[in-house]
Amino acid sequence: MAFSSRRKFIKKNLLGGLLFAAGAPLLANRNPEAADKKTLPGFLNEKDEIDWALIREQFLLSEKKHYFNTGSLGPSPRVVVDEVCDMMRKLEKQAYVGHHYTKEPHEKLASFLNASPDEIAITRNSTEGMNIVARSLPLEPGDEVLITDQEHIGGAAPWVALQKDKGVVVKLVELDLTGENNLQIIKDHITDKTKVVSFSHIVFTTGMRLPAKEIVDVCREKGIYSVVDGAQAVGMIPLDMKDMNPDFYIGSGHKWLFGPKGTGVLFINKTIIGKCDPVFVGAYTDKKFDLKKLTLEYRAIAQREEYGTRNTPIIIGLGTAVDFIEEIGIERVETRGRYLADRFIRGMEEVPGVEILTPKNPEYSACIVSIRVEGMDAQKVSLQLSQEQIIKLRAVFEYDINALRASFSVFNSPEEVDMLVNSLKAVITG
Ligand SMILES: Cc1ncc(COP(=O)(O)O)c(C=O)c1O
Repeated sequence: MAFSSRRKFIKKNLLGGLLFAAGAPLLANRNPEAADKKTLPGFLNEKDEIDWALIREQFLLSEKKHYFNTGSLGPSPRVVVDEVCDMMRKLEKQAYVGHHYTKEPHEKLASFLNASPDEIAITRNSTEGMNIVARSLPLEPGDEVLITDQEHIGGAAPWVALQKDKGVVVKLVELDLTGENNLQIIKDHITDKTKVVSFSHIVFTTGMRLPAKEIVDVCREKGIYSVVDGAQAVGMIPLDMKDMNPDFYIGSGHKWLFGPKGTGVLFINKTIIGKCDPVFVGAYTDKKFDLKKLTLEYRAIAQREEYGTRNTPIIIGLGTAVDFIEEIGIERVETRGRYLADRFIRGMEEVPGVEILTPKNPEYSACIVSIRVEGMDAQKVSLQLSQEQIIKLRAVFEYDINALRASFSVFNSPEEVDMLVNSLKAVITG
C-alpha cells in the first residue's frame, strides 16, 4: 500500500474513531518490514463489521464513477496495482523473469479454492482456460459435448471449434431461466455418447446460478468429464474444489477477483491430469526432455500449462488480489453483493415495463441482476446512462436477450444502487 494511503488509514482510524479488531493488520503496517510486504489494512471494526467506505477507498476507480460491471472487468484495488508496478520495477532492474516468485500465488489461489497448488494453473483469462480444456481432453469424432444456450463465447467457442476440427458433436441444452429445473434438464440431455458437460456456474446473461455440485456429481456417476466455467463465480462466491470435485474449473482473475488484467485460473483435478495432454508445451511443461532422443515426458501437475516465459508481476498481483478478497472474507463479499442486488431488484420490480430476468430464489442467483425494459434497446439505455450519469452497466445483446446487466460488488454502496434505480426509472419513464 502506498505511503499516503497508509497515512490516510491511520488518520481515519484516529479521527473517525474507527476501531480495528485485536491484532489488526493495520498496526502491522506501522512495522516497516510488514509494510514492505504490503500487508493489507484491517477492514473490520470491533463489531466484526466491514467498513465498506474504507473498502471503496482502496480502489483507484474515480469517485464520480458508478461502476456496476465487475462481471466484465473488475477494477483493481491500489494494493494490487502497486504490487504489479513495484514487482515490475524490481525485476526490470535485473532483467529477471523471477519465475520462482510465482509459487506463492499458486498457493494462495489453491487455498482460496480449497485445492492443491498442483491443481492450479495461472492462465491469461477464462477463454484460455476453456481452450486448454477442450484441446487436452482425449475426445474422438462422434463424442458428444453438452453445453448450454447461456454460455459466453469464451466458454462455448472452444467446443464449437473442436466440432469443426475434430468432429465431436456439440449439443446445446436450453436452460430454464427460472433456475428451478436445470439439473433435470441437463440429465435429460445426457446420452451414451456424452463425454463432456461444460456449463457456467453463474451464467453471464442473467446471473442465474446453476447447481454446479449436483451437475458434477451426475457427471462423475456416469463417467463424463465435468467442466465448470466459473468466470462469473471466482471471487464472487465461496468455492470449494474438494467439495464440488469437478474435473476442471475455470476462472478469470480480472473480474470478481480484482486481479490484474490478463490473468485467469484453471483448476485441473489431480485425478484427471494423467488422462490429458497439455496443449502447448515448452519449458516448465516437461518432467524429462531429451532433445537427442527426441523424447518428452510431461509433469503431472496443472502448472505444466504455463509454458515458457510469463509475466511474473501480474501473476504476483493476482496473489495479492486473493489476499485482498480474503482480508474482507469471501462470505462477506457474497453477502454484500447479494444485499445490493436485492435492493436493486426491489427498486426495479414495481417499475412498469421492467422484467427482472434473474431468478429471485437465492439458490439460483448471486450478485448479478439482469433486467429487460419493454420496448427499449438495452444498448441504447446503457450508452445513455454511461454518457449522462457516469453509470456503467453491461448491455447483454447476445442471444437476443436485450437485457441490462448490473453487477454488485464490494466497492458499490446502497446509495449508488438507489441512484442507479432512480436513473433507470428516469430513462424508462422518459
Ligand atoms: C461465463 C463467462 N465465460 C467466459 C468469459 C470470458 O472471460 P475472459 O475474458 O476472462 O476470457 C466470460 C466473460 O465475461 C464469461 O462471463
